[in-house]
Amino acid sequence: MSSPLAQPAWKKLQAIYDDYGKSYSTRDAFAKDSSRFDTFSTTFENYDGSKILFDFSKNLIDESILSTLFELAKECNVEQLRDDMFAGKHINTTEDRAVYHVALRNRSLKAMYVDNVNVSPEVDSVLQHMKEFSELVRSGEWKGYTGKEITDIVNIGIGGSDLGPVMVTEALKPYAHPRLNVHFVSNVDGTHIAETLKKCDAETTLFLIASKTFTTAETCANANTAKNWFLQRAKEQSHIAKHFVALSTNASEVAKFGIDTKNMFGFENWVGGRYSVWSAIGLSVCLYIGYENFDQFLKGGEAVDNHFVNAPIEKNIPFIGGLLTIWYNNFHKAQTKLVAPFDQYLHRFPAYLQQLSMESNGKSVSKDSKFVNYETGIVMFGEPTTNAQHSFFQLVHQGTKLIPTDFILAAKSHNPIEGNLHQRMLASNFFAQAESLMLGKTKEEVEAEGTSASLTPHKMFSGNRPTTSILAQQITPATLGSLIAYYEHVTFVEGAIWGINSFDQWGVELGKSLAKVILKELDADKDVETHDASTKNLINQFKAWA
Ligand code: F6P
Repeated sequence: MSSPLAQPAWKKLQAIYDDYGKSYSTRDAFAKDSSRFDTFSTTFENYDGSKILFDFSKNLIDESILSTLFELAKECNVEQLRDDMFAGKHINTTEDRAVYHVALRNRSLKAMYVDNVNVSPEVDSVLQHMKEFSELVRSGEWKGYTGKEITDIVNIGIGGSDLGPVMVTEALKPYAHPRLNVHFVSNVDGTHIAETLKKCDAETTLFLIASKTFTTAETCANANTAKNWFLQRAKEQSHIAKHFVALSTNASEVAKFGIDTKNMFGFENWVGGRYSVWSAIGLSVCLYIGYENFDQFLKGGEAVDNHFVNAPIEKNIPFIGGLLTIWYNNFHKAQTKLVAPFDQYLHRFPAYLQQLSMESNGKSVSKDSKFVNYETGIVMFGEPTTNAQHSFFQLVHQGTKLIPTDFILAAKSHNPIEGNLHQRMLASNFFAQAESLMLGKTKEEVEAEGTSASLTPHKMFSGNRPTTSILAQQITPATLGSLIAYYEHVTFVEGAIWGINSFDQWGVELGKSLAKVILKELDADKDVETHDASTKNLINQFKAWA
């Protein structure tokens, strides 16, 4: 494959950027064009009839920029790669695997093949197992070793085996079973599991050991600690069967750990960790919100898949989202992207998106094994707001960096308290932030307020800071499924244009293997003599102080 830089559309975009793109004014564009909102906004209709409005009109684009970005997507064969993903081809080339998380939310149960095998029946049978199990636990029929109902679920996993389940259970708390508490232990810092176990009673706690590989050091350490804690209380090895289940692809390691593989919920290696919340890794979600809601979550994702596959590029919402990243990252030289949900239930959404985006596209080698000479993955960050407004939005409004931003709001709150006042205040900020970032405040406007000459520059806002406003009706399981699938496909489009493999993660390996070596050195009595001087002295000081 050739570099995106070699594509005619890339050169055209560079020429547009140099000509007028870099100083494009959305403020002027709105003033001149009364139909700008209609041209650059689109409404996604979900499978259940609910809607999500994507307003791209406050971005630094006109029709010519956008259509050239579409040309770029065509020249980079993004549609072909998308079709290859949906056809189960091994598009994860460095690991020689299909990328088939989309098959997990194929609730229409159409045939979906990987290596000539239709995976739909197997996917559905794991879902049926999740349904039966979650119904037993939720109804109270599943009892702990002393005959009590389960009250606490502890998911032990890290990365994709943690961030998705945490984020979704938090986001869908209004749908939670009233008896069940969910806890997530991910960090190998003993504090995480110690503090969690303080809240649990062995008789009523169910541990989900969530690990695709079942070899991840942090998860194995935390799982062993949980098992020891449990056995100190329950005494009998046989009681493990009622209190530990495994969510994994690795049956032999699950059995070695001591979990009966009857209590294992499997998936295949074509599910990447950061794409796995739709799989058995989502069991904590299914237990917490119930199978019917989990099914709606999957269907919301499936509806976006159908749109991504079928809508022409020009109307394709994830294509537009992904191409905007290219415009800002590669032409405007923006380094970051901010996602700010106006929604407290979505407080872990930015953290989830960080893994999705940065583990997928933080690569500097193209699929044909060449080091790239252009920028790839963005630094993704975010926080729920209005809190974020009172911490780092100063930089977003007046700093020297361009920070393209997505704002997310649901029109209907799950907590319409005080006559819905909180929701109206929240919404007023959602609109005000996007408007003020776009409009800014000119010198003349500041001066007209009688501001002194020395203070005037401090009170000016350049404006033209791009935002996409995503307005949902309500954060339901279906809506959340759609939002996640939207960002997955945005990430896909970005990686496809950059010509990188968005589905491996070699970058996490070096640190893991060095940590193994150092762990042995920490166990030894003597000082270390190896390593660079900084690392050696830090290790020895740690040993002296620990
Ligand atoms: O180290 C990164 C990573 O491999 C992620 O991609 C993955 O989500 C996480 O570790 C956890 O892996 P596992 O589910 O195999 O324990």
